[in-house]
Amino acid sequence: MANLDLIIRNANVATSENRFVCDIGVVAGQICQIGEINQTADEELDATGFLITPGGVDSHCHVEQISSNGIWTADDWFSASRSAVCGGTTTIIPFACQHRGQSLRQVVNDYHDLATPKAACDYAFHLIVSDPTEQVLGQELPSLIKAGYTSFKIYLTYDALKLSDREFLDVLAVARREGAMVMVHAENNDMIMWMAERLLAAGLADPRYHATARPMLVEREATHRTISMAELVDVPVLIVHVSGAEAIEQIKWAQNRGLKVFAETCPQYLFLTEDDLDRPGLEGAKYMCSPPPRDKANQEIVWQALEEGVFEVFSSDHAPYRFDDPKGKLAAGESPHFKQIANGVPGIETRMTLLMSEGVNKGRLSLQEFVALTSTNAAKLYGLHPRKGDITEGSDADFILWDMNKEVTISQELLHDAMDYTPYQDFKVKGWPIMTYLRGKKICDSGNFFGRAGEGQFLECGRPPALDLPTNLPTRFDPAVGKFRA
Ligand code: URP
Ligand code: ZN
Ligand code: ZN
Repeated sequence: MANLDLIIRNANVATSENRFVCDIGVVAGQICQIGEINQTADEELDATGFLITPGGVDSHCHVEQISSNGIWTADDWFSASRSAVCGGTTTIIPFACQHRGQSLRQVVNDYHDLATPKAACDYAFHLIVSDPTEQVLGQELPSLIKAGYTSFKIYLTYDALKLSDREFLDVLAVARREGAMVMVHAENNDMIMWMAERLLAAGLADPRYHATARPMLVEREATHRTISMAELVDVPVLIVHVSGAEAIEQIKWAQNRGLKVFAETCPQYLFLTEDDLDRPGLEGAKYMCSPPPRDKANQEIVWQALEEGVFEVFSSDHAPYRFDDPKGKLAAGESPHFKQIANGVPGIETRMTLLMSEGVNKGRLSLQEFVALTSTNAAKLYGLHPRKGDITEGSDADFILWDMNKEVTISQELLHDAMDYTPYQDFKVKGWPIMTYLRGKKICDSGNFFGRAGEGQFLECGRPPALDLPTNLPTRFDPAVGKFRA
């Protein structure tokens, strides 16, 4: 019998499917035994009193990325991954973001150069496709998919990134042919720009008008368009950062028709509202993200949709721009109008405790649902399961030890990112990730970080299983391959 590196004894485990008490044996970073273990290991931990869940998988975060306003995120790969693991997340999937004129292959190489020396947790990449040239569609995407980059994000808004509907269809066709998952930022760009021009012409420039320029119907329209485009090509899509009722109605409509439509929501749509954008002075800039937070009634509808299983994943959309910093939210000067303020809020470290506290500890979600939403489903959707997102023999030994009774008042001083604010300042939570293990090594204990820059491993993603759902083309012509089907 192999010598064990680590045994966690009396582990009270919750996975997305089960609850059990066991010992967990680890060799070379992987779980090799689950059950009663009658041997010893170099390191042993008695986990009595803790709840153990799989390490979190945050499948939507922006790290060392330049925003569409030309501003860099405050976090680099080290501070973002340090913050992730201290919040219980052991795998992140940020973006390698193509800007127009760039080769996607080169972009991927550049992001690896940033990540390799600094990542302290494991990671994969989604590709942001903003320039689907013939070279990108015909050569780069197919070869990158084969190399383990099996998901792309496309934007229907932001002048610098948005695709036309035709370009969007081209990308969907590649995804179907080659086997990739497409994530969509669904907001109608022309409607937003048209509204913003009129607001600014009327002298309405404060952060709160960001929400006025992007009402829910611009998200509803783009969500429905996304669903229709994906239906035409018969390819799965995931609609990211869904903010409220009208988009949820469209997604439920699609799911009820059996379409391959998945959805993600984020903490900002459960815990923030548009009133936060109306804080005095420029404080509202701290809460500006796209789509914007809505109202209390919409928060409740997002909660209900989480309970009903409409959402597959709960991600952070961590997009950190410091407030009191000339390179951050106020980069355009002391009195920017809302179009000049970078969109995005931080949240990589607070994502899991917020959902554990307000979802599980308040009885809205089961532990199984929590694990599925914060870890297992993302690993499955993006081709990383069972290596990630589970506690089973053969999985990486990534876990969180929770104190389900610990009450904490969130404050920026407790967090490990490079930010100067958290939108969740003074929120009270119950249920806190005390220890985090990455591949069998304890890298966080009681807020003390023990990881190291460069210790994180790059993960090649496999074929997303949703690509293998039964064919459901609207006509017998398959536009992705250019043939009639028998
Ligand atoms: O406002 C947001 N969400 N900023 C990050 C970029 C994006 O669209 O996800
Ligand atoms: Zn987005
Ligand atoms: Zn995002």
